[in-house]
Amino acid sequence: MSDAIAKSASKAASTAVQRCIVPGCAATFGIREQIYVCPRCGGPLEIELPLELLKAVPDLRERWQARAASHDPRDRSGVWRYRELLPFDDDAPVVTLFEGNTPLYDAPRSAKYAGLTALRLKHQGCNPTASFKDTGMTTAVTQAKLLGARTVVCASTGNTAASLAAYAARAALQCAILLPQGQISPAKLAQSMDYGAVVCEIAGNFDDCMRLISELADVPSIYIANSINPFRIEGQKTVAFELLEQCGWRVPDHVVVPGGNMGNSSALGKGFDEMLRLGLIDRLPKISVIQAEGAAPLAHLFAGLKPPEPAADALLPDEIAPVSNPRTLATAIKIGAPVSWKKALRAVLGSHGSIITVSEQEIADAKAIIGRDGIGCEPASATTVAGIRKLVASEKIHAGETVVAVLTGHVLKDPDYVSNYHRGTLSFESVTAGGTAKTVQISGAFRNAPEKVAATKQAILKSLESRR
Ligand code: F0G
Repeated sequence: MSDAIAKSASKAASTAVQRCIVPGCAATFGIREQIYVCPRCGGPLEIELPLELLKAVPDLRERWQARAASHDPRDRSGVWRYRELLPFDDDAPVVTLFEGNTPLYDAPRSAKYAGLTALRLKHQGCNPTASFKDTGMTTAVTQAKLLGARTVVCASTGNTAASLAAYAARAALQCAILLPQGQISPAKLAQSMDYGAVVCEIAGNFDDCMRLISELADVPSIYIANSINPFRIEGQKTVAFELLEQCGWRVPDHVVVPGGNMGNSSALGKGFDEMLRLGLIDRLPKISVIQAEGAAPLAHLFAGLKPPEPAADALLPDEIAPVSNPRTLATAIKIGAPVSWKKALRAVLGSHGSIITVSEQEIADAKAIIGRDGIGCEPASATTVAGIRKLVASEKIHAGETVVAVLTGHVLKDPDYVSNYHRGTLSFESVTAGGTAKTVQISGAFRNAPEKVAATKQAILKSLESRR
């Protein structure tokens, strides 16, 4: 790299700012200020990079591609490989577990199920702690180190916690996680215990944990790593870059993600937007977000927006009506008051995507179909394929379009769910409009229960024959 170019790339990092996304405020703050929301108006913050400077750096795509073959620890990471677009200087104390570099699979059975000619699945469950959270934790924990934090904390439905616990352990930082007691998958809880975090089980739901987190925001030695933290989003946005690279820089027509606290959709939106502004792509994919029916505050808000869709920031609504008692077996997205809803809504409206809901039965069946492609994922991730099927049926997605679903977590994240589905014992506590609770049995339309087979060759062959 020539000196001049190297200077523009590193200057880009040092001239980045944190900017309030509320149009009437738009206040800016230095990137080493330990803040999570705008100190002036309370609005969400995002990192603004001087993209004009970065336009002067030639051959960014080729440079990123070449790093994939390098042994520099930063190049081994599918996040830091794109470091020109991260708000860190070259000497930052990078905390990495070599996250990212996740596969993009063809999924013919899932495609057929959804009514598409082809479907690709970007499997973020193939990260070091088996969820997409790792791509954001590498940058958030690196920032924690830079700020001299002693403790990192988060509220979580399980995956953020597991990821933060692992990265904190790598960075030798204390880690505390706030979890809704009895509401997260035991496999995720086990990960956090193994990585040495202080596990605080809170009597309440995720939204209660999140409220407690915001009370901890003014303790200087504590650094918050929820996706309200804009440095998390910076790492997570690189998934858009990696995906485009894997698509040979041909922009897919649709990218579909699950929606919980809305960090992921916000991050993808930011990533694609930066690529467009840098001239590395010429259009945006439509970003669609899928929520579980019982935990869908943003889908409700979206459904109430009047057409024509307001694409301009100025027209974004100020408030969202939270769901006070969110319900879904996809516990990762059991969230009633998503903190990053504004950024996510902006990304969806700006790209002309949709926000819809899917039922528990639809999630469960889509999950089993993804398994039949030999891929597998946790329940929250399967909202994507279930959602795509609905979007195809309502002609928001056409059969021949190029579609990528982002799978956010690994199938082993919630083995109880998987087993119950296949054994026909999966059930869901639903509440009627009148407030009465009733248990709904989820039918295992694609059940694959184990069977007892006698310990003989004949019995095994018979069993195979009967199931051909
Ligand atoms: N999928 C999985 C597997 C998740 O763990 C989450 C969020 C989401 C989707 C939704 O992503 O919040 O960025 O919209 N899990 C968080 C957690 C809330 O604490 O692990 P989002």
